[in-house]
Amino acid sequence: MNNEMGNGRSAPSGPSRVCLIGAGSSGITAAKALHERGIPFDCFEKSDRVGGNWVFANKNGMSSAYRDLFINTSRPRMQYSDFPMSESFPDFPHHTHIAAYFRDYVDHFGFGEKISFETSVEHASRREDGTWEIQLDSGGIRLYDALLVANGHHWLPRWPEPAFPGADTFAGEQFHSHSYLDSSVFAGKRVVILGMGNSAMDISVEASYVADRTYLAARHGVWIVPKYMFGRPTDQFPDHAQMPFKIRKRLKHLVLKTYTGSPERYGLPKPDHRLGDAHYTASSRILDRISHGAITPKPNIESLAGSQVRFVDGSTVDADVVLYCTGYKISFPFFDEDLICAPDNHIELFRRVFQPDIPNLFFIGLLQPLGATMPLAEAQGAWIGEYLQGRYALPSPAKLRADIAADQAAMRKRYVASKRHTIQVDVNDYLHALAKERRAGVARARSSSGSGSFVCPPVRT
Ligand SMILES: Cc1cc2nc3c(=O)[nH]c(=O)nc-3n(C[C@H](O)[C@H](O)[C@H](O)COP(=O)(O)OP(=O)(O)OC[C@H]3O[C@@H](n4cnc5c(N)ncnc54)[C@H](O)[C@@H]3O)c2cc1C
Ligand SMILES: NC(=O)c1ccc[n+]([C@@H]2O[C@H](COP(=O)([O-])OP(=O)(O)OC[C@H]3O[C@@H](n4cnc5c(N)ncnc54)[C@H](OP(=O)(O)O)[C@@H]3O)[C@@H](O)[C@H]2O)c1
Repeated sequence: MNNEMGNGRSAPSGPSRVCLIGAGSSGITAAKALHERGIPFDCFEKSDRVGGNWVFANKNGMSSAYRDLFINTSRPRMQYSDFPMSESFPDFPHHTHIAAYFRDYVDHFGFGEKISFETSVEHASRREDGTWEIQLDSGGIRLYDALLVANGHHWLPRWPEPAFPGADTFAGEQFHSHSYLDSSVFAGKRVVILGMGNSAMDISVEASYVADRTYLAARHGVWIVPKYMFGRPTDQFPDHAQMPFKIRKRLKHLVLKTYTGSPERYGLPKPDHRLGDAHYTASSRILDRISHGAITPKPNIESLAGSQVRFVDGSTVDADVVLYCTGYKISFPFFDEDLICAPDNHIELFRRVFQPDIPNLFFIGLLQPLGATMPLAEAQGAWIGEYLQGRYALPSPAKLRADIAADQAAMRKRYVASKRHTIQVDVNDYLHALAKERRAGVARARSSSGSGSFVCPPVRT
């Protein structure tokens, strides 16, 4: 197949059969999996460097990192299995360390030349014969046998929908955490921050040192997990996927409640769920700042008018800035919506990777883990590599569908209903289940048993 049409720059010289969109932490580990298996691929990256979200003020305009961002999943939990982070890094490194780590990973495994930088995929469509037609911002169109999508899901702001009554009349400034760079914007101002996720925790702490007043508003309570407990990173406490989930959950809940007490003790809303039933909110500093009176908890915003913010309990404050830390939308701007979309962040995939109707389309890092994303993206990349080599066979379409339905039902049962809990996974459970599925799929491929199972035709190398 001639895989080049039009006037694309950086034309590949050989047969490139797999296209990978994005060289953030998910894209690079998928690229490494393809590279070490000898599967030819082209990776297109909008930015001038790898690292995605972890490149502060990234040229791609998509990073949500702020100047003082530190990871909230500890170093050993975040690193890839075969490339440890430097021992010289702290337990929770700064974004500059993390971005450097991703650069080093690519250099170490030696696939950097397969990434076309400052090249954006504008459109991806699938022909009748299954070939992917990839249109680049350069105007070129290329054809591929398979498509891997690693475009990230924390770059398109989710503003409150609908906007709060009177938001258009508010005299001060309103912005979303995606645009937040550093606390200088809050100096001497009265600030209302909305949300109880990690962005709201970090940013309200930062604001509290420079703002005239900092209010933290929330519509739901959450359990706030300190980064350290009993002298060690909290996410390094043992968590065995083999132990029944309910017991693990109870134990963790009990330990946290004993350690920090209930959020209500600090004036925060009472959580309507147990620890583990919502995405992890980690902060060692927020409760301290609240207890010093530097941050005042408030319930949800009801409306805005002039310079006033009214809360649902009827109280009002004067404010200069309202910052919405209200999360992100999953989006694939390069797909036609009738092919792939994620309304309200819902997208049905087999184990968050395989689109059940399109056997040559895969997603990497499209999950929200209770833990770090990188080891999961690494396992997903290896899984896709096996599949593209024909060594792994999917279950039959009926089984795929049943698995997706069961997974969705389990997620609905387990997590608080919210647009932020649509792609949620537990790291250890996910890795454990994925390893099991990979073994089953390798056995299916070997026996070709698959009455109805699908074996990907090996990508020509
Ligand atoms: C403030 C913040 C802090 C976080 N902290 C943590 C943490 O401590 N631990 C953790 O595990 N996770 C954390 N996360 C989650 C975060 O999503 C992951 O850490 C990680 O960035 C996911 O990597 P990714 O490669 O999937 O996406 P991204 O990092 O977003 O990378 C996507 C890449 O795709 C490229 N791209 C997108 N569209 C195109 C296109 N059309 N053409 C070409 N290239 C394209 C982008 O340029 C980018 O380089 C945090 C998220 C935020 C917002
Ligand atoms: N230091 C770090 O490592 C760090 C820092 C920042 C972010 N992150 C990561 O980045 C990702 C995004 O985090 P995030 O905090 O930006 O978003 P998030 O986790 O999606 O949290 C959004 C928050 O906004 C609330 N919210 C949404 N819409 C609302 C509305 N209309 N009215 C009132 N409240 C509303 C949500 O409440 P409900 O629960 O009621 O929906 C939730 O509390 C997460 O993976 C997070 O872990 C990490």
